[in-house]
Amino acid sequence: HSSAPSFLSKVVATRRLLPDSQARLERQENIDLVQWQGDNTMPRDQLLKDIKGAEALICMLSDKIDKEVLEAAGPQLKLVTTLSVGFDHVDLKTAKEKNIKIGYTPEVLTDATADLAALLTLAAARNMKQGIDAVQNGGWQDWRAAWLCGHQFTGKTLGVVGLGRIGQAVAKRLGAFGIDRLIYWGRTKKEGVDGELVSMDELLKDSDFVLVCCPLTPDTKEMFDYEAFKKMKKNAIFVNISRGGVVKQDDLARALKEKLIAGAGLDVTTPEPLPLDDPLQSLDNCVVLPHIGSATFETRETMCGMMIDNVLAVLEDKAIPYELKR
Ligand code: NDP
Ligand code: DGY
Repeated sequence: HSSAPSFLSKVVATRRLLPDSQARLERQENIDLVQWQGDNTMPRDQLLKDIKGAEALICMLSDKIDKEVLEAAGPQLKLVTTLSVGFDHVDLKTAKEKNIKIGYTPEVLTDATADLAALLTLAAARNMKQGIDAVQNGGWQDWRAAWLCGHQFTGKTLGVVGLGRIGQAVAKRLGAFGIDRLIYWGRTKKEGVDGELVSMDELLKDSDFVLVCCPLTPDTKEMFDYEAFKKMKKNAIFVNISRGGVVKQDDLARALKEKLIAGAGLDVTTPEPLPLDDPLQSLDNCVVLPHIGSATFETRETMCGMMIDNVLAVLEDKAIPYELKR
């Protein structure tokens, strides 16, 4: 790309985008696009090399955008825009010091992620993993009255940790299944919500379903440890769509093994992908999905479009439409 005319702005993308957005990005005549074409995370040494001279970076939650990357870019980098609402993979402090704007994709993925959270809650509560295993592996011998009984929602208490956009959307969905009481933990009381802000201890003690929808921050890191699982009800279902880092995963495996809680549904783990020999893999009361919360065609295409809107705005020295305000 050293041969690119000087009026072009270098933009690095760590992945190909969804079809419409990819075509739109390629149509931009003022952009010298350097894009990783592999179906894997852009290798870090490649990113460190390619980012040099870039004005904008389009990245994914699987890329670690730390000080080293931001420094490797050089002083002309104006924007890092990520295909996610979560931003725990980006060094916000260094970005601020260097006057680099951060773009992200809030709201448009709320419905898709809330749908998946509801799916995981249902799957974990109704033994879906054991059910599918039984059908496929010959364990389905006959109809049995007490076989694979799970937990009903009617009249139960839902505890949401982080009742933000996604947390509220999940509560609404599970309300339709008969949840009777909503309690939540966070830093502020949410106005206009038919739920009660409680202490973490109270939430753990009272909830039949514990749903984690908060961001991963130094405050929330590994907040779910053995002590926390011990405080939960024996029939509790634990669901995490946030980030794997909020859970001390070995403690969760131990809690599930010891039946301190009834089951878990996880869309996020540490690490990702979850190794095949991870203790969680062999537990039949733990349903794990590969971080697909926002993965609908509609949502992902919209998210990609927002990243391009951000890039085009920053290259014209305009305010970016989807900026993470800090
Ligand atoms: P929001 O900002 O709308 O909601 C987050 C909530 O967490 C807020 O209501 C906030 O409430 C609460 N919270 C509790 N503790 C903290 C803390 N220490 N710092 C900040 N907030 C805190 O975000 P979204 O609902 O849009 O997304 C939530 C998270 O879900 C994302 O950060 C991301 O990690 C994850 N996610 C996962 C997806 C997946 O594919 N699995 C898809 C999309 C998002 P209060 O301020 O009152 O504390
Ligand atoms: C996010 O947006 O933070 C998700 O994890 C992926 O959509």
